[in-house]
Amino acid sequence: MATPSRSGVFSGDADRRVERFSESISFDCRLYEQDVRGSIAHAQMLAKVGVLTPDERDQIVVALTEIGQTIAAGKMEFRQELEDIHMHIEQALIERLGDVGRKLHTGRSRNDQVATDFRLWVRDAIDQIDRRIAALQKAFVGRCDRDTDVILPGYTHLQRAQPVLAPHYWLAYCEKFERDRSRLADCRRRTNQCSLGAAALAGTTLPIDRHDVANRLGFEGVAANSLDVSSDRDFVLEFVFCLTLIAEHLSTWAEEWILWSTVEFNFIKLPQEFCTGSSIMPQKINPDVLELTRGKTARVIGSLQTLLVLVKGLPLAYNRDLQEDKPPVFNAFDTVDACLELAAPLVEGSELNLAAIEERLERGYLDATTLMEYLIQRGLPQRSAHHAVGALVRSALERRCTLAELPLTEFQKTDPNLDASVYNVLGVHNAVRAFKSYGSTAPSEVARQVAHWKSRFFGAEARIQSAE
Ligand code: ARG
Repeated sequence: MATPSRSGVFSGDADRRVERFSESISFDCRLYEQDVRGSIAHAQMLAKVGVLTPDERDQIVVALTEIGQTIAAGKMEFRQELEDIHMHIEQALIERLGDVGRKLHTGRSRNDQVATDFRLWVRDAIDQIDRRIAALQKAFVGRCDRDTDVILPGYTHLQRAQPVLAPHYWLAYCEKFERDRSRLADCRRRTNQCSLGAAALAGTTLPIDRHDVANRLGFEGVAANSLDVSSDRDFVLEFVFCLTLIAEHLSTWAEEWILWSTVEFNFIKLPQEFCTGSSIMPQKINPDVLELTRGKTARVIGSLQTLLVLVKGLPLAYNRDLQEDKPPVFNAFDTVDACLELAAPLVEGSELNLAAIEERLERGYLDATTLMEYLIQRGLPQRSAHHAVGALVRSALERRCTLAELPLTEFQKTDPNLDASVYNVLGVHNAVRAFKSYGSTAPSEVARQVAHWKSRFFGAEARIQSAE
């Protein structure tokens, strides 16, 4: 049987090897639900403008719905010679309805059909990732009450720098993921434009109503230029870029917690259900989920690279190269979706090793900068205060003690007027209390931010609970 896209101009079928080489059904079958939705909207529009009768429309809508159910149930047999999901669904329709089925493809081409289906799919995928990120943010916010007063050493260059409150740490990740969500929302706006009706590249001479189709499919608008939109994959690249940054954020978090879970750091205990053992070393409890989260980021970056290279040399409008856009997007989406699914319970289920953290908190002179700022507030120029505190740290290093353990006479070498009140900013607990600036780790600032995030994620729940 000749395939529907091989018209009378061909005298026979394609070479079997060419069919195998050029099929996309093996991966674009994932678009079946979107294809059915798009075709139903198209048929309804065709009836509205008088191209189909109401009866023909109803037959098509019923048959398409049934075909969708058949595919969902895994009962459609996919055939290479039908190339892609669009041809499979149309062929099934023709097998059921004959000539009525042959009318569905009026006023559209696979070029705008593929683009429309993919926009619908990406829109759903954006919503799914957004829900997953919200769950992860919620897990971080949920930790803030558990770890309220815990102080952690903050690092720069992975060297101990200044003390920070644990909730300050958790909310730092919430902010990063919040930017990811806002990028996704922005990408969603540009994705949510209807391509259908661009036809092959130039539009159509038939009296179609593109705005009607767009409305039925929940698109915000209709893409303005048929040449542009039949080849446009910006939304795909943008989405995968968003996924790449999410993966990067997950990867840096994973790296941090892998370090924290080592004997050397001993800051955190990961839930055992999220760890694996070694086949040779019986004592090992390995952080594989975090390592794979970090490792799988490579795939997502690779997908973005693939897409950027794919489109760089394409002239207007549709080129068959564009069929290659789906595997990298599916791969990037599946990867990030899976990483996010495990990230939230990992954040919830991990425990800070409070005793081990507290025991070593006074090592590393985390209060040195606070001391410097104390001297600045007493009138010393910053450069002089920086130098003076450097000398005090050197003296403490020589005596193998903390800054708080230095005698007052040492401080008075810097400024003879210094009195015992200098000790009020020394030690990490005092140092944290001394912070003031907006967005800092000052307890009042952190409390304000925790309240903001809690009302966002637990506000409704808290209200419901108090009403019960
Ligand atoms: N399988 C193709 C794809 O996914 C369908 C596009 C067909 N258009 C064309 N002019 N051959 O891109």
